[in-house]
Amino acid sequence: AMTLAILSALPEEQHGLAALLEDTQVVARAGRRFVRGHLHGQPLVLGLTGIGKVAAATTTTTLIEHLDVQQLVFTGVAGGIGAGVQVGDVVVAQAFLQHDMDVRPLFPRWQVPGYGAAAFACDPALVQRLQQAAQACTAQAATWQDPLLGARAPRAHAGLVVSGDQFIATAEASQRIVDDLQTAAHAPLAVEMEGAAIAQVCADYGLPFAAIRTISDRADDSAHVDFPAFVERIASRYALHMVDHL
Ligand code: ADE
Repeated sequence: AMTLAILSALPEEQHGLAALLEDTQVVARAGRRFVRGHLHGQPLVLGLTGIGKVAAATTTTTLIEHLDVQQLVFTGVAGGIGAGVQVGDVVVAQAFLQHDMDVRPLFPRWQVPGYGAAAFACDPALVQRLQQAAQACTAQAATWQDPLLGARAPRAHAGLVVSGDQFIATAEASQRIVDDLQTAAHAPLAVEMEGAAIAQVCADYGLPFAAIRTISDRADDSAHVDFPAFVERIASRYALHMVDHL
């Protein structure tokens, strides 16, 4: 059977998932700890990448080379930078781009040399599954009545997510990313620090990848307060609902 890998950057983003698995086995490799098991009879591997593109790339490579997975999904949090993408909303990535990649004037901005385009497309079938999960997660979150989620019902979005080795923590920095990308007709919904690296590794191996990210902050001047509070209190609840609807 096809083994699905579920990756997150931080342990809080996956808290409680390992406890749902049956016949688990821990595999340690490259400083990472993977948990192999079954969920509803399906073979599954859980893994934590750590933070940033390099950590995400080495983890993904190790996972593919040594744990025999055939499809990969990332679940975690992100900063909302698209219009109307608010804390508590869920973004399913349809494509990823590295917002800090810049090899001008040799290559067009954001293009990783050798790949021919700036964006890495996610697998359409996995995207569709995650969009259904996103609908279920946001409907559930609306019943939690958590003040961190605000008064408005959480929404599900799908589109471009951008990654870079920076925590975006000022309105100015997130506006700069949006404005710069706008010049090339890219409209990013969210920013994080791993997805585009995983997408690049999966493109190298020809394996399907998609990601679901809950918005923990607006990547603005309060991001450094909103992000840890959200990660601690809410992030894993979304992950638990997500796997239920995979
Ligand atoms: N992940 C969650 N919030 C983020 C932010 N503001 N910048 C980068 N990665 C994030």
